Amino acid sequence: MRLDPNEGKMKFPLCASLRRLSQASYVVTFWFVGSAVAADSDAIAKGRAILAQNCARCHAIGMTDISPHPQAPPFRSVVLRYPVEDLAESLAEGIVSGHPDMPVFTFEPDQIDAILAYLNSLKGAKESK
Ligand code: HEC
Repeated sequence: MRLDPNEGKMKFPLCASLRRLSQASYVVTFWFVGSAVAADSDAIAKGRAILAQNCARCHAIGMTDISPHPQAPPFRSVVLRYPVEDLAESLAEGIVSGHPDMPVFTFEPDQIDAILAYLNSLKGAKESK
């Protein structure tokens, strides 16, 4: 096998620019999804209603309320702790918190979109204050 020094030189910049490209498209996708979802106020209202119905007996779902269940984190701090994509996956597959008090929930894709719209709106409100 013959090693061509030029071959090595060409590979690295290509690698680096591919890596940059994939990082950039990740950021753009994330930004796009976030802003598209945040703009839909119907979805936000629907998401809030789903969470109010299913989660609010334990979790604080608003900007200033206190969780009724002392160990349940307010959603406004959950969204700062976890990437929204991770929550989407958990909502689809069923959130298992490892806490016996919390039931396992699974949601349909349109419900998840609404929930994420609402959760994103919590994050936006926090940042703009
Ligand atoms: C009966 C009470 C109860 C209900 C209802 C409930 N939760 Fe929880 N949830 C908890 C408790 C308690 C914890 C803290 C678990 C822990 O620290 O192990 C928790 C934790 C979480 C976490 C964080 C998990 C982690 O790994 O930190 C998320 C996300 C969450 N809940 C989402 C939801 C959503 C979404 C709903 C409604 C669809 C919901 N919960 C309904 C009690 C509840």
